[in-house]
Amino acid sequence: MKLLGIESTAHTASVGVVDEEARVLSCATDMYRPPQGGIHPREAANHHAEVFPGLLEKALSDARIDASDLSGVAFSQGPGLGPCLRAGATVARTLVQAWELPLLPVNHCVAHLEIARIMSGFEDPVLLYASGGNTQVIAYGHGRYRVLGETLDLGVGNFLDKLALGLGATFPGGPVLERWAKEGNPRYELPYSVHGMDVSFSGLFTAARTLLNRGAPREDVAASVEVTAYSMLCEVAERALAHLGRSELVLGGGVACNRRLRAMVEGMARARGIRVYAPPPALCVDNGAMIAWTGTLVNGTGGAVPLSESAVDPRQRTDQVTAPWRVRLAGGAVPPGRP
Ligand code: ATP
Ligand code: FE2
Repeated sequence: MKLLGIESTAHTASVGVVDEEARVLSCATDMYRPPQGGIHPREAANHHAEVFPGLLEKALSDARIDASDLSGVAFSQGPGLGPCLRAGATVARTLVQAWELPLLPVNHCVAHLEIARIMSGFEDPVLLYASGGNTQVIAYGHGRYRVLGETLDLGVGNFLDKLALGLGATFPGGPVLERWAKEGNPRYELPYSVHGMDVSFSGLFTAARTLLNRGAPREDVAASVEVTAYSMLCEVAERALAHLGRSELVLGGGVACNRRLRAMVEGMARARGIRVYAPPPALCVDNGAMIAWTGTLVNGTGGAVPLSESAVDPRQRTDQVTAPWRVRLAGGAVPPGRP
């Protein structure tokens, strides 16, 4: 059984194909990069509409299949930018009508977790989800994935992007900042803002900008920002693990590509004696393969929808959707610590 997944929540248009064992048969991706500044939703959506036909063709030919080999088409229903979500959903609806296949709505945040979970082999991990628009600590409980903590203002990636853009970088700024940080000394003490399992970045942003305006070297500011922001993320992830009594952590989202964040999380995991897994970078960032895999889970538990119920939901929360495939799993071995 093979499934096609369509991702278009923000800057990335992607089409992936996976099989029933979550082998990624193909993943064709094209990221919208604005010439300057941040992302304009309408321009990103126009980009997606232009590139989807080519991505679709490439995903099918790389996977060496045609439409008759597919068992369904999954798409990102939310959260995300409305025009971008609608571009992907329109493609998915067109395909299921033409190919007479089930249409499978997928929550984008759940997809980041599920692709990391299947690749790690962990049964019941906590997810540290660190992307541009989202920064959350998520775990399963009572039929759904629950947000235990999250950013109270900017997503960590948006915060890094904004800081880098102010220094002349183009989007995405996180990798640029990472290059600068590698050359720098994390010598500045910056605002550290953790509230239970929530975090916030606006104080850190203001302090970093103030330092830069006073002529502090961007390399040292970048290194200090990374150490501060990622320490906050490690702390909230560790708190979630401790409260739930869980011993497995997975990473997801574009910021999880960052080497320093990975190293810091691994250090925390070693100290706590827990296992940690970060997917390869191509599966940390937005990608169609994670949508296809989560669509496989949705399909296996009767989650296909008619066109009339396939509206996108830009504000769809992680815990607004159920995860019935996890309930079925709970009928087997129930890991300790599950509520
Ligand atoms: P979501 O819809 O899940 O919020 P997103 O639209 O932000 O996702 P992702 O591809 O998951 O998309 O993440 C993109 C973010 O990741 C950008 O903010 C980018 O700067 C950041 N990022 C990518 N690579 C790195 C890196 N090496 N270090 C730090 N940040 C990074
Ligand atoms: Fe994402």
